[in-house]
Amino acid sequence: SSPKPLAGRRVLVTSGPTHEPIDPVRYLANRSSGRQGHAIAAAAAAAGAEVVLVSGPVSIPDPTGVTMVRVETAREMLAAVEAALPADLAIFAAAVGDWRPVESRDSKIKKDGSAVPPLSLVENPDILATIAKRTEGRPTLVVGFAAETDAVIAHAREKIARKGCDLLVANDVSAAGGVMGGTANTVHLLDREGGLETWPTLDKDEVGRRLVERFAARLAT
Ligand code: C5P
Repeated sequence: SSPKPLAGRRVLVTSGPTHEPIDPVRYLANRSSGRQGHAIAAAAAAAGAEVVLVSGPVSIPDPTGVTMVRVETAREMLAAVEAALPADLAIFAAAVGDWRPVESRDSKIKKDGSAVPPLSLVENPDILATIAKRTEGRPTLVVGFAAETDAVIAHAREKIARKGCDLLVANDVSAAGGVMGGTANTVHLLDREGGLETWPTLDKDEVGRRLVERFAARLAT
């Protein structure tokens, strides 16, 4: 096969957590490190693609050869994704916050010694579903991720249908595995036709390279 299987392809990757502000100093976030999404972006660039990496706040280095777009919130991430399209392949590896505070205060909420401030949440837009269900300008191949702690495969099957993506990478993020924030990952790759592969535990960089090989093969058919 060609040494540059994604030459001439435009690839969009989301990675990292989102930060949803409560006030100027506080936010809601999650334990995503961005390692798996960044590894996929790096592997896609190495495979010859033109890569845009839309990343939430992370503390890992930028992959080489990709165009970085840095965002904080889910809504900023959706806007950045829409601005980065069109793409042949879109991989939604970010751990997008499901909810955000209804309002973000302009000044720091004060501790007044008695009342605890209420925290009301609203749902964030689902970036993956929004793009996967587009009728115009949908990337040829849309890949979602599923971070699950139980019934990983069953939840992944349900998710691939509900989100409208072509492929889903499911991983077990129960605390014992140390996937979230760690450097290794055990993934299951599912397709809409019912296909399922379970891969051995691998370094996230290796998972990224193998996933990119699969995506390139599917794009080529
Ligand atoms: O529903 P759940 O959050 O488990 O779905 C995970 C998949 O959906 C991931 O690919 C994630 O990047 C994407 N997602 C998204 N926008 C959201 C929530 C999840 O793109 N608001």
